[in-house]
This record gives sequence, C-alpha cells and structure tokens, in this order.
Amino acid sequence: MIVQPKIRGFICTTAHPVGCARHVQEQIDYVLRHEPLTSAPKKVLVIGASAGFGLASRIVAAFAGGAATYGVYFERPSDGKRTATAGWYNTAAFEKAARARGLYAKSLCGDAFADETKRQVADAIRKDMGPVDMVVYSLASPRRVHPRTGETFKSSLKPVCGTYTNKSMDFEKNEVINVTLEQATPEDVQQTVQVMGGEDWQMWMEFLKAEKLLAPGCLTVAYSYIGPDVTQPIYRNGTIGAAKDHLETTARQLDKFMGQVGGRALVSVNKALVTQASSAIPFISLYIVLLMKEMKARGIHEGCIEQMDRLFRDRLFNGRALQDIPVDGKGRVRVDDWEVRDDVQAAVSDVWKNVSTDNVLRNGDVAGYNQEFLKLFGFGYPDVDYNADVEIDIKAD
Ligand code: NAI
Repeated sequence: MIVQPKIRGFICTTAHPVGCARHVQEQIDYVLRHEPLTSAPKKVLVIGASAGFGLASRIVAAFAGGAATYGVYFERPSDGKRTATAGWYNTAAFEKAARARGLYAKSLCGDAFADETKRQVADAIRKDMGPVDMVVYSLASPRRVHPRTGETFKSSLKPVCGTYTNKSMDFEKNEVINVTLEQATPEDVQQTVQVMGGEDWQMWMEFLKAEKLLAPGCLTVAYSYIGPDVTQPIYRNGTIGAAKDHLETTARQLDKFMGQVGGRALVSVNKALVTQASSAIPFISLYIVLLMKEMKARGIHEGCIEQMDRLFRDRLFNGRALQDIPVDGKGRVRVDDWEVRDDVQAAVSDVWKNVSTDNVLRNGDVAGYNQEFLKLFGFGYPDVDYNADVEIDIKAD
C-alpha cells in the first residue's frame, strides 16, 4: 500500500511502517552516540512501551544499558486494508533492532489494566528473564475497565475550578483560536483518577512482588507533569492534575512498599512534549509551540529520547545509591528542570499574552511542532519514499 498521512484533528489515522522504523532508529542512534550506561538495570519491564516516553525509556534501557526488555502496549495491527497504529510498527522495529544487537526483547499487545495481561506478562518474564530490576510505568489511556468491578472509567481533560477559556492552536488551519472547557463534575475527576491515577501502577507492583518477580533493589518509575501557570487550570488544577496528584501520592506509598525488596518507587516529572497523548490536550499544544521556539533558541530543546536518556544517565543510574537519587521537596525526580527555568517561562508567558493567528508562525515553532507530530506516525522523513508501495501487515513476534 502507498501510505500517506491522513490527519483528523489531533490524530493521524495512518502510520507508515518504514517511517516508524526510521523514527525508532533515530532514537536508537541518539542513544548509541553516547557512552554506554554501566550501572543501569539489566532486566526491564516497560508498561506503555510502544510510543512516547515509554518507548524512549525502553530504547535507553536496551541500547545504553544493554538490558533485556519486556514491553506491554495496546495498539491495533493492520487488517490488510488499514495500516496498523504507529506503536505497532514502533514495537516491531524496536524488537528487530534489539535482537540484531543480541538483546532479549519481547512484548505483549494487550490491556495493561486487565488481570489477565498481568498474569501473561508474569508468566513470560518468569520463563524468559527472571525477576526484573526496573519497571517503567508509562501509560496514557483514555479509558480503563476496572479489573475487579468491570466498570469502565473514562478520563477527561477539564478544569476543576469553573469554566475555562484560553488560547489554543488549530493545526489544520494554523490558527490561534479560543477554546472554552466546561467545569468538570466530581464524577469526571473521579473517573480520570481511576484511569490515569496510581491504582493500576500499584496493582502491577503488588502483583509482581507476590509473584516474586521483583529483583532486590528494583526501581519502578512513573511519569508526571506540572507545567506553567498558563496551563494550570486545564492541567495541574484540572481532572488530569487530580490523577497526577494521585499518581504522586501512590509513588510515596509504593516507595515504602518497594523498600521490602530494597528498591524504590519514584515519579519523574518530565517536560511537555509532542506525543499522541499531549496533542489531544487543548492549550498545551500552543504552549508547546511557543516553548519549543524558546528552548531551541537557548540550545536546550529535548524530545522524548533526550529526556529519557538524561533521566537514566544523570538522575537514576549514574552510580548513586537509590536513596541518593536527587528529588524535589515532594519526592519527585525532575527532568522538566530546563522547561521550568525562569528565563524560559518568562519568555513563553510574554509571547503567550499577544500570540495570535497573525504572529504565531513568527513567535512559535509551528513547523517544528508539525514535524514532530508527523514523525510520531512515521511521516516527514526525507529519506523515506512515501510514494513507494510498502507492506503494512507487519506481524508482531
Ligand atoms: P503516548 O500516547 O505516547 O504512549 C502511551 C503508551 O501507553 C503507548 O505505548 C500505548 O500503547 C500505551 N497504552 C495506552 N493504553 C494502554 C492499555 N490499556 N494497555 C497497555 N498499554 C496502553 O503517551 P506519553 O505522552 O508518552 O505519556 C506517557 C506518560 O508520560 C503519561 O503518564 C503522561 O501523562 C506522562 N507525561 C507526558 C508528557 C507529555 O508532554 N507527553 C509530559 C510529562 C509526563
């Protein structure tokens, strides 16, 4: 099939298998340009492994640390007529590249929230790898079926303190528009916490411990976000922020729990980046457009792979004892430190005040955002022939 991008709102409904492999290889190449990580874990489970921060974490663990990795993800294969989703192709490309380097790499496509998935993962890990010394929890999901009650929860992106209106970006028209979001109900908050809070992470860790699959000194990490004042009403003080509060509270409880195996549980606060999850959040995409311009101007722009490489290399595994990993006053690792720098934030907030359709192309990095967005689906690489016929039905192993 000849595969071209088909963009509908904030999603691209096609993905290019060769381009996705190219995107994965680009991240592998970044990691390989740096020194190997000698004190990194050797057996790593990544939950949410097919895209964004989870995929980048897996690439760093494998290609910098030489780890055997097991990935859990939820993607759609091709039915022969439609392409698979990008994460499907990413995973196939990752596994191929890891094995070519002699690294164990297997994955399970299934619902991470389900007990059955947890059981299957435990069986596979027990058979192939033995207890893991790191668990990365990097899910971004719109819904969760609770494994005990069968109830379906849906996450939402709504402000909690009243209706909120602010500027956002319409990428189809390259226009700055006003978007209004209605105040969340208490039910919306509770549902979002059920999906994106810490309960499932805790279930995973308790299950793996009961199955004796956590190695001594195992570290588990999940990802959070704080962000600037301008996105507080929709993000940190919104429904998703309530879920992140829950995730961070869970981390503090899990940290004690992991002490039973001499390990730790930590949340890392990462920077705002173009991923499938973040492109769905109103206001944030415009903020990222402005942020990218300011961070690039200062030579401190990072994508997922740069962020995760710095997390592993400088924060988690640079030879310190687990207890000495640097954290903020709330016990969180911070790799959003460059994003929240005073000079960066002052510049973004200055531009935000007057940003409009007339000046957004000048004051923001719309082209850079669009390029990153297309790459998520394997498009926009000059060395990939998008007019060539490609096999879309790539089998998972
Ligand atoms: P993403 O959309 O790029 O990747 C999400 C991953 O979760 C994919 O591998 C997907 O297959 C998997 N997944 C979703 N539902 C699943 C299910 N039911 N079962 C198994 N796998 C499932 O997301 P992104 O942006 O990398 O987000 C990961 C984490 O990082 C989230 O907790 C997010 O809040 C956090 N984060 C994201 C930031 C951003 O700017 N994108 C900033 C800071 C934190």
